[in-house]
Amino acid sequence: MLIAGNWKMYKGPAETAEFCLGLREEELDGVDVVVCPPFVSLAVAVQLLAGTEIAVAAQNVHWEDEGPYTGEISAPMLRELGVYGAIVGHSERRQHFGETDETVAMRANAALEAGLFVIACIGETEEERERGETEAVLRRQVSVLEPDDNVVIAYEPVWAIGTGKTATPETAQEAHAFVKTLLEAPVLYGGSVKPDNAAELLAQPDVDGALVGGASLDLDSFTSICRAAAPIPS
Ligand code: PGA
Repeated sequence: MLIAGNWKMYKGPAETAEFCLGLREEELDGVDVVVCPPFVSLAVAVQLLAGTEIAVAAQNVHWEDEGPYTGEISAPMLRELGVYGAIVGHSERRQHFGETDETVAMRANAALEAGLFVIACIGETEEERERGETEAVLRRQVSVLEPDDNVVIAYEPVWAIGTGKTATPETAQEAHAFVKTLLEAPVLYGGSVKPDNAAELLAQPDVDGALVGGASLDLDSFTSICRAAAPIPS
């Protein structure tokens, strides 16, 4: 099980330091934990989580190693900082920043080549689901990704992100099982995962973890989701 916290545009270096110092003190055995702070907070997260099992990943990465790409950050730069992975293709990037399946693929490939792990986000909008296009959309979004041991998919139905409208465990399971027929990779669920719905989502056979937005910003709520993913000690 993998639980990743996508902090989006929240927590500068000071708040990141506070969160990471708290996170260090938590017992989180039996679950892989990743935090994804904004770029400016990556260095402090890497520094404060060094020597723990908790990995730090970026929220995006460019496809070139360097060049005239104002405002972008490359995979080798992230590696130099001690960052382990990157999210690519988040729906907010697709929606607000013109991200396409092609640019998502380029970003994913560059990250993998540089030795980063990739959390590649896919998911249908509400209209697409209502039109019965969910599988076609997921197929299109997955088709550009290369199978790789370092790729994790995050199924995040756009209608469930930040809305409090979580997919039912059955809906998530159905989508995850379908995604696994397209690409062999662990599949995280994302979209309004909270401490009180995490356990039933994570209990689905094809739900391999969660990508958590809002509920990852608070230490107690994030760690209780991490604990819901850990095997019950016998
Ligand atoms: P949410 O965001 O948990 O706040 O719905 C999930 C995400 O966007 O990764």
